[in-house]
Amino acid sequence: MNNIEPWNCEGVSARELAERFGTPTYIYSLQTLKARWFAYKNALNALPHLICYAVKANSNLALLTVLAKLGAGFDVVSGGELQRVLRAGGQAQHSVFSGVGKQPWEMQLALSAGIHSFNVESAAELRQLEQVAQSMRLIAPISLRVNPDVDAQTHPYIATGLKENKFGIPMEDALPLYLEAARSPHLRIRGIDCHIGSQLLSLSPFTEALEKILGLIDQLAAAGISLGHLNIGGGLGVAYRPEEIAPSPEEYIAQLQPLLQHRSLTLLCEPGRSLIADAGTLLTRVILLKPGQHKNFAVVDAAMNDLLRPTLYGAWMSIQEAEPSSPTTLAESKVWDIVGPVCETGDFLGKDRQLSLHSDSLLVVTQAGAYGMSMSSNYNTRCRSAEVLVDRGQCHLIRRRESLDDLLATESALPESFHVA
Ligand code: LLP
Repeated sequence: MNNIEPWNCEGVSARELAERFGTPTYIYSLQTLKARWFAYKNALNALPHLICYAVKANSNLALLTVLAKLGAGFDVVSGGELQRVLRAGGQAQHSVFSGVGKQPWEMQLALSAGIHSFNVESAAELRQLEQVAQSMRLIAPISLRVNPDVDAQTHPYIATGLKENKFGIPMEDALPLYLEAARSPHLRIRGIDCHIGSQLLSLSPFTEALEKILGLIDQLAAAGISLGHLNIGGGLGVAYRPEEIAPSPEEYIAQLQPLLQHRSLTLLCEPGRSLIADAGTLLTRVILLKPGQHKNFAVVDAAMNDLLRPTLYGAWMSIQEAEPSSPTTLAESKVWDIVGPVCETGDFLGKDRQLSLHSDSLLVVTQAGAYGMSMSSNYNTRCRSAEVLVDRGQCHLIRRRESLDDLLATESALPESFHVA
């Protein structure tokens, strides 16, 4: 028996959510999202700025609409994400387009929508963009994404600011490329950007990167190139483990602000995780318990296809019982591996968790709002979860659970008469 408080989202209990919407379901708290947004907004108050939410962290249309209504701009990495932003009521003029492999159709789309700037990642991309702009008789607004060669001290898969990573333009190549861009009538230089990685819990790599980029900005100025904005990317981490401490947006900006004094630059940033992670929870139900001599497994109805972070990065995410166990449920406290039904040993949400579980327990994986639903898949022909936004006790279904028909809609069987030669 354990005396945890029942989990709820803005007053709606896990039990009610599970009964109304089924499991697994992603639940989002509107008030938490708002609080994270205003933490950034207030931190940036004294600076000319633009917050471009990194859509890849969670691209649900309703959440994008909320952010657009709060005044967010967006960081998109594909034509698909840009179309989502536009459908959600977001403004291209306040959005930037990142990514190492933009295709001509995506450039065209962003140019006709009036994107704020392309974060250009290579000489080849710059030349391609110039051609596309020329063919459309438009001028493409650009920022060069430089790679400052800084160790973000994060998981290697999500470190992006090292020389060996595919991202950005080496610092030493930036000046000649800016000069090339300045000569083109089809390109307009707007700024400079970088993004050194994700889930950073230390602020020093951000400072290191910023110092290097400010040095480059001075070099550019000496060569006659002045910039309107400096985009510091995203990357601020969240404290997933109880022993971790994540800097707040306030601390993050306070650390960078002194370096920006006396420079007439608009500060852009592209936070994803630090805006949306805490607002989201994955609600899941135990399917069956499989205690054993070596290991105790709790098989739940969410799996690696719903939440890939533990499998892909070995990420630790908090998993709690959603309700206190009562004497009638016969729950026993044990150390459990929380695993999904997918046929892979790597399919787990958490390992070695001390929990009191019974055969119908509801569990919550908290801080799952970022890179949860957006990285989900249909592996093992599993229909993706529903998503629910809760606003002070009121629930809005913002994505219905997928059906098998949804999954099969794009596939075609061969005709009965087809002969396999
Ligand atoms: N800007 C750019 C150019 C990015 O590539 C990213 C993330 C962001 C902004 C937002 O970074 P954030 O503030 O969310 O750290 N799937 C991984 C994270 C991948 C991050 C990719 N880029 C995870 O679940 O940890």
